[in-house]
Amino acid sequence: MTADAPPPIRHHRPMRIADFALERFFARWEFAVRHLLCASDVEGWRMADLLALADDETAALWADLRLGYTEAPGHPLLRAEIATLYDTIGADDVLVFAGAEEAIFCLSNVLLGPGDHAVVTWPAYQSLYEVGRAAGADVSLHDLREADGWALDPERLIGTLQPNTRLVVVNAPHNPTGMLPTAAEWSALTTELADRGIHLLADEVYRYLELDAGDRLTAGADAFPRGVSLGVMSKSFALAGLRIGWLATRDRDLLARCAAMKDYTTICSSAPAEILSLIGLRARDAVLARSRGIVEANFAHLDRFFADHADRLSWVRPRGGSIGFPRLLDDEPIDAFAARLVEAEGVLLLPGSQFGYEGNHFRIGFGREDLPAALAGLERFLDAP
Ligand SMILES: Cc1ncc(COP(=O)(O)O)c(C=O)c1O
Repeated sequence: MTADAPPPIRHHRPMRIADFALERFFARWEFAVRHLLCASDVEGWRMADLLALADDETAALWADLRLGYTEAPGHPLLRAEIATLYDTIGADDVLVFAGAEEAIFCLSNVLLGPGDHAVVTWPAYQSLYEVGRAAGADVSLHDLREADGWALDPERLIGTLQPNTRLVVVNAPHNPTGMLPTAAEWSALTTELADRGIHLLADEVYRYLELDAGDRLTAGADAFPRGVSLGVMSKSFALAGLRIGWLATRDRDLLARCAAMKDYTTICSSAPAEILSLIGLRARDAVLARSRGIVEANFAHLDRFFADHADRLSWVRPRGGSIGFPRLLDDEPIDAFAARLVEAEGVLLLPGSQFGYEGNHFRIGFGREDLPAALAGLERFLDAP
């Protein structure tokens, strides 16, 4: 550096973030195994089948699409369509992101910093607590317990709130347990958070896959003004490759701050993905019926499988979503079991250790069409002498 060089721009504070264990695990295995018996998404659509669902307007948008930059908050028609998923939300209350993951990153960074506190359901999709920690906040984990059927305990959760609690994160239907609060539990929690002025991030990426549609909860964004709904095309809409997600909330100030943060991540969304998402959302009756059909058919196989192997595996039947969190009752650690299974049968399970969760749990996914074949591989392995 020469004597008259300007001084370096000073840092604010260092951002240190731990590796995302589950995503590193999938980076190693996802495309290297025969059967992914732990995927969380529903079997992806073929592009041609999705395009066949386009109406006249979206077919024209697709045919005439120009591949320039797109509008930073998201295509106006896409935001308007997303808004119809909620009761109290308009297009301007929606911000589109590259998947749910970018939305989690931006919201956590905007709401949380040193001196702040957050509460997150646990076990958890790691970014839901890790990004807030990296931003400098303290995070309390609200542990769901197998002995309670993984149920959310609003009273216990409310007991962990502090004067500096800025955010509560509840993922329901839950990854990895399939937990879904009852309407009474949900209302007890959201009413308390509204009274205390605390933001709620309702991670609803598995919404619409409730086993009983009557159990679908009031969306976080509809529950109270500081409620924020997180949605995505990846899971129930079976379009993970589009990488389109969103936040919906009546808190316009929060949304504006998230939009400003997004200028440092993707700025705006992929033009083709926005139009394909619009096609999928407008045809959501058909899209969701297909997803629920796959999950329901797979559930029949799982019910039989877990009944037949109750001496080796414990199983709390999920109330929603496309994943569950059974436990191997053998003495063998689940990591060793899963390593032998993938070697012998090419079937991948996700050991609970990838969630930092102790014990012999593993995640099983039932949104994929090859589940019967994958389960047969697991069954052969379990039954082998
Ligand atoms: C609970 C939860 N939230 C967010 C995400 C991120 O979704 P996406 O990969 O589509 O960004 C996932 C993905 O597995 C998830 O399970």
